[in-house]
Amino acid sequence: MSLPTAIQFRNALGQFATGVTIVTTMEDEATPIGVTASSFNSVSLDPPLVLWSLAKTAQSMPAYQMSGGFNIHVLASHQSDLSNQFARSSDSKFEGVDWGKCDQGFPLLPEYAALFRCKTQFQYEGGDHIIFVGEVIDFEEKNLPPLVFHSGQYADKKNKSKSDLPTEPSVDLADGTFSDNFLLYLISRAHFQTSHPVRQAGRNIGLSEAEYFCLSTLAINGALAEGDIIARLEHTGHIPDKEIFDRLERKALIEIEAEKVSITDQGRNIVVGFLAKSKTLDEKIKKHFTPDELSGAISFLQKVIDITGSDIPELW
Ligand SMILES: Cc1cc2nc3c(=O)[nH]c(=O)nc-3n(C[C@H](O)[C@H](O)[C@H](O)COP(=O)(O)O)c2cc1C
Repeated sequence: MSLPTAIQFRNALGQFATGVTIVTTMEDEATPIGVTASSFNSVSLDPPLVLWSLAKTAQSMPAYQMSGGFNIHVLASHQSDLSNQFARSSDSKFEGVDWGKCDQGFPLLPEYAALFRCKTQFQYEGGDHIIFVGEVIDFEEKNLPPLVFHSGQYADKKNKSKSDLPTEPSVDLADGTFSDNFLLYLISRAHFQTSHPVRQAGRNIGLSEAEYFCLSTLAINGALAEGDIIARLEHTGHIPDKEIFDRLERKALIEIEAEKVSITDQGRNIVVGFLAKSKTLDEKIKKHFTPDELSGAISFLQKVIDITGSDIPELW
């Protein structure tokens, strides 16, 4: 399926409003495992069977395939944070959760709208998912409103009013303090923390930030005039000057010919090594977010970039 079609397919499926569950099991009878799943459904009354499906790429797949059973917790409307906690691949999903064990030894969450304790009866291949069918050996219902998921959002968050957003002033100009919802502080702190490994790696080989930015601009664009490089890097505050160009040339990381600057193989190797570091961190960070959180973050950051510098030349 081509990319646009896959997105359209996902959007169309999102029109089907579902509840949300957390399905738990045990790995090696020692490690609690849980995932958020909206694919839960009823199958049969007699015998009592239910199903849910798990992506083959899920880290927890082997645990569900081997454990012989699972507990399905249908979430209540106030549990969207817990749903997000179990929707991120992580080794600490149960952190802060006061969980216990059922008599099969599988994790039991303290709160739910309904609980179905199951023995795994069948596992079917379903494309990129495995469908688990469980025989319900015990169940419980609490009279709580359910958490509803529709079109990639929780129904309780969909019409969140402005009054739900933090209202206290984020910056106090009288005494120069700011609170932890000051957006610009959060953006710059995230920038410093995420760029720290590469800046450190640069320092370790005696490369300044201006030198690294210059190399990376050349790696992306090919040969450029010095003025073009400066224009592309002006907004970073790390603008290469004559001394920096000379230094990079002396280190054989760039070549200057007919007023055009180009990167050497040695320079490109440095950029590729640093890029690999950034890519690893990028993947590590993304694992902590749901696809909807990620696409929201990407459009948010792109909008901030547009609002604050639409006249700044693109890096490439
Ligand atoms: C509301 C919601 C419903 C989800 N439903 C499913 C599902 O039915 N099947 C699935 O494989 N993943 C589903 N996910 C994504 C998984 O919860 C997520 O990929 C999880 O990180 C997998 O955990 P693991 O990689 O630690 O095993 C859902 C996520 C959300 C937010």
